[in-house]
Amino acid sequence: MFRVGLIGCGAIGSVVARELSQGAVDGAELSAVFDLVVDHPLRVDDRESLLARSDVVVEAAGHGALREHGVAVRKAGTDLLVVSIGALADEDLESRLRQAEGGRLLLCTGAIGGFDILRAAMLFGPLEEVAITSTKPAGALSRPWMDESVKGALAGGSEPVTVFDGPAREACAFFPESANVTATLSLATVGFDQVRVRMVGDPAATRVRHVVTASGVAGTYELSFENAPSPDNPRTSAVTAYSVLRAIGDLRRPSVAFL
Ligand SMILES: NC(=O)c1ccc[n+]([C@@H]2O[C@H](COP(=O)([O-])OP(=O)(O)OC[C@H]3O[C@@H](n4cnc5c(N)ncnc54)[C@H](O)[C@@H]3O)[C@@H](O)[C@H]2O)c1
Repeated sequence: MFRVGLIGCGAIGSVVARELSQGAVDGAELSAVFDLVVDHPLRVDDRESLLARSDVVVEAAGHGALREHGVAVRKAGTDLLVVSIGALADEDLESRLRQAEGGRLLLCTGAIGGFDILRAAMLFGPLEEVAITSTKPAGALSRPWMDESVKGALAGGSEPVTVFDGPAREACAFFPESANVTATLSLATVGFDQVRVRMVGDPAATRVRHVVTASGVAGTYELSFENAPSPDNPRTSAVTAYSVLRAIGDLRRPSVAFL
């Protein structure tokens, strides 16, 4: 059996734990759960116990947990499947995680996708423009640091308002809750300083919508995502846990794979 250890048993981790325990991924089993707060029958109290029981460690706990445990997991020779990808917008953490030798650094595609075709296109020739537009309910985008006029337009306007238009690295700092999808796109394609991000508050929107566009010699691409929220954490897309399960299934090397 392929043993899966979890760091974080919240909105994402609890679904991964439940599904693995119910046999959702052939040949894989939940082996240990490490969470600072949540109890679980397979709970362990420290990283060493988690590592001793795991062939792969799934981090689904947050930026701080990845900073605290990521490098050590790789150095122990254990594969690390990262869900809190937004943490890699921090250049120092990204380089420490990349350089730690041992287990593999596996970046879960999470709440969006399509990186396979974009990466294929990049082998054909450079992508000249990679962008993501994230449209959210207007009220959800208001931030204390915004101009009063922008906050007013978000609170009372009837038209969509673009509140940010700039490079991905800056977007991750200003809108950390959107950092995961932005960071995944950046890491999979042209990098944090080349991916352009637009954040739009739309009074008519009820869900978050991400539209990724890219163009190059291989073609022109437009990928659009509108995910239902997790019932346990409205800021997390419910499908993210299933991305983790899909990734674990792919790691098991089935005889048929979408690579
Ligand atoms: N890649 C993506 O597309 C994507 C999508 C959604 C969420 N995320 C990220 O996934 C992570 C988890 O999201 P969630 O909605 O499940 O969060 P959550 O808050 O529901 O759960 C996090 C769990 O981790 C535990 N935890 C926190 N710090 C810990 C630590 N240092 N050690 C052990 N346990 C710790 C908490 O007690 C909690 O139970 C977040 O970083 C979130 O930003 C990524």
